[in-house]
Amino acid sequence: MKILPIKDLRPGMVVTEPIYTNSGQKILDADSILTSESIYRLSFYSIHSVNVKEVDNEGSSEQYTAMIPNPSRASNPSYSQKVKAQPEFMTYQIEYVKLINSIRELFEKIIRHPDSPIDTKHLLEDFSSLVSICRTTVDLLDKLHNMRLDDDSVYAHCLNVALLSRVIGKWLRFTPEERNVLTLCGLFHDIGKTSIPDEILNKPDKYTEEEFTLIKQHPLFGYKILKKLPIDERIKKAALHHHERYDGSGYPQGLQAADIDDYAGIIAIADVYDATTSARSYRSPLCPFQAIAMFEKDGLQKYSPQYILTFLDRIASTYQNNRVLLNNGQSATVVMINSSHLTKPMIQMDDGSVIDMQKKPELEIVKII
Ligand SMILES: [Fe+2]
Repeated sequence: MKILPIKDLRPGMVVTEPIYTNSGQKILDADSILTSESIYRLSFYSIHSVNVKEVDNEGSSEQYTAMIPNPSRASNPSYSQKVKAQPEFMTYQIEYVKLINSIRELFEKIIRHPDSPIDTKHLLEDFSSLVSICRTTVDLLDKLHNMRLDDDSVYAHCLNVALLSRVIGKWLRFTPEERNVLTLCGLFHDIGKTSIPDEILNKPDKYTEEEFTLIKQHPLFGYKILKKLPIDERIKKAALHHHERYDGSGYPQGLQAADIDDYAGIIAIADVYDATTSARSYRSPLCPFQAIAMFEKDGLQKYSPQYILTFLDRIASTYQNNRVLLNNGQSATVVMINSSHLTKPMIQMDDGSVIDMQKKPELEIVKII
C-alpha cells in the first residue's frame, strides 16, 4: 500500500479503502479500480491523496489494467476514447477542476464583499495555463466536450462558456486584450444563478411558472452582484444581456439587437452551444452537427448575424475529416463541409462511395466517432 497525490494517480490503480468527501459522501469503495472519470471526481471533491495497492512490475498490475477498457488496445476506439487516452488529458482534467474551485471561491468572495477589487489577472493566468495544455483549437474543443462528466455546476458551465467565448474571439480575430475581457465575460456571465436556490436550479422536472419567472431573473441578479466591482463594464453587461436575443424574444428585458451589448451577443452563442452539447437529465449530449441544427431550428435571427455565421461555419469545419455515425447506423467520414448547409456535408461511406447529404434529407449525423 502507498499514498499517492492525485496528480500521480493513473487509470488501472486500485484504492485500498473507501473514499469519502468532506461532507461524508462515499465516492469510491475499497478495491475500486481507478478510471479517468474517478480520478477526475477525486480532484473535483478536493481529495488530495489516496492509498493505492502496490503492484509489482511483473505481477498483478497487468491484471488490473486488463480489467478496464484500454483505448489503445481496443480494435476500434471511439473518438472520445482517443481524446481521453491522450497523455495530457489527465493534466487538463486536474487544471480544469482547480480552475472550477477558483471560480467558486471567487464568486463566494464577490458575494461577501461586493465592492472589493478582485484578482482577475491571476484568474486569467490560470485560465491561460489550462488553454496552453491544448495544442490547437480543435484539441481544446475535444477536451471541452470530453469533460462532460458529473459536474454540471454553474461554475463548470461558466468555465466552459469562457473557453468557448475565447475560441470565438480568436476566430473573430479579437486582440489578446479583447479576448481576455471576453473570457471574463464568460467566467462571470451566470454568477446570478448563485442567488437561486439549488433545489430549483438542479430540479430534474419541468419548472413551475413561478420557478421559471425566478430563473429568468438571474441575469438581473448577476448584474446587481457585479455592479459595484471595479471591472470592465462589458463583463457586467454580459451578465445582464446574455439571454437577450437580437429579435427581441429574450429576457429579462426583451431588448432588441441595437441595445444588446456586443460581447453579450458572443456569450449568448457560447452559452447555448455549451448547454446543447452537455448531457441533460432528459437527453444525451448532442454532437456538434446536431447543435448546429438546433441553432438553425431555434432561429439564426436571434443572434448577431456576424458572430453566429462565423461560429457555426468554424465549428462545422472543425469536424472535417472526422469519422461520424449516421442516424441509419452506418459510419462515414466527413470529406467536405457544405457552407450553405452545414449539417449536410459530403461524406464518404466505408465502401468508398461518396454521398452528398444535401440530397439525402433523411440522413443525419448523430455522433462523432
Ligand atoms: Fe444564464
